[in-house]
Amino acid sequence: MSGLFQSIGRKVLFTFDPEDAHGMSIKALKTGLVPSCASTKDPALRVEIAGLKFPNPLGMAAGYDKNAEVPDALLKLGFGFAEIGTLTPLAQSGNPKPRIFRLVEDNAVINRLGFNNEGHEAAFQRLSSRKNHPGIVGVNIGANKDSADRVADYVAGIRKFHTLASYFTVNISSPNTPGLRDLQARDSLKELLGKVLEARDEVAAQSGARRSVFLKIAPDLPDASLDNIAAEVGLHPLDGLIISNTTLSRTGLRSAKNTAEAGGLSGAPIFTRSTIVLAKMRQRVGPDLPIIGVGGIDSAKTAIAKIRAGADLVQLYTSMIYRGPGLAAEIIKDMSAALKRDGVSNIAELRDRDVAEWAVKDIPA
Ligand code: FNR
Repeated sequence: MSGLFQSIGRKVLFTFDPEDAHGMSIKALKTGLVPSCASTKDPALRVEIAGLKFPNPLGMAAGYDKNAEVPDALLKLGFGFAEIGTLTPLAQSGNPKPRIFRLVEDNAVINRLGFNNEGHEAAFQRLSSRKNHPGIVGVNIGANKDSADRVADYVAGIRKFHTLASYFTVNISSPNTPGLRDLQARDSLKELLGKVLEARDEVAAQSGARRSVFLKIAPDLPDASLDNIAAEVGLHPLDGLIISNTTLSRTGLRSAKNTAEAGGLSGAPIFTRSTIVLAKMRQRVGPDLPIIGVGGIDSAKTAIAKIRAGADLVQLYTSMIYRGPGLAAEIIKDMSAALKRDGVSNIAELRDRDVAEWAVKDIPA
């Protein structure tokens, strides 16, 4: 399917504005026009972390299905889990359009959407309608742009979705909400994690369901900030990290168009940067904290490289824009084949093999 998409579907979709093309792909998934590829049953790809059993380690990253319109369709494409959001308590329109730009020669995208989403209630209604469906669906939560109390917005997300989310992601790393990334500073992080995890524990005690909470960080953090985040994380009952969001860096781009647009860069050019940050954090937090690696994954090779650099699970988004809806199934099939070829009985055995090699590298400018 990936080949067919690249020869026909992509040409057609790329004649449209990227945000319109995205809307069309959501519609296609909603109406079932995209053929489903049953998720693999290969036990070598099963991963159990943070109290959840993932059928395979490849997830759909946040930002594709912001409003929880198509989580089950994404799982049908072969993803082992899907993350919806980022959701803010109140609906908000985000930044003025255009606000997504393709960097075609780099297989990359710059976006400055600014948390456009329909708000908690709309997504809550949709997720309620799939309540007892199987499949791991994480809820990525954020803060409204003009919120007077951003920490309270994250807490509201936990309270709203705790019966419906398989796990939560606390996203403090979007570059498109002014000041949001400041929550990564030690004192702010201390308050945020304290209040979010207190709320999680409180609702867990009431409902009997304890949801894992992941923290999603930027790839633009110097070593000292990574030290601080790792130290603070170690003081809280956080369940894992997601590394990473998009970058503000524009180093090494080849594209003729759009490289000077403001926003977060994603796709192939962020693979190295996000993998270095991942490995540096794996070294800092030790072997027990789950990490989801994201950034520039477009193949079984890059997915496995992330796992070898310290990730338990991986996610992708931008490569699906370039390679189409068949990509997840293709990567899963190729991962299975690679494990078989190398005599690896479970993917988890590969984790951390190359941490030292990646962690020693400097994060590119
Ligand atoms: C994103 N990403 C994102 N992340 C997040 O936590 N909340 C969000 O709402 C969004 N929105 C969003 C929109 C668009 C158009 C893109 C391309 C990306 C970031 C995404 O989840 C991921 O972390 C990065 O894109 C890096 O992965 P890829 O795209 O290189 O595989």
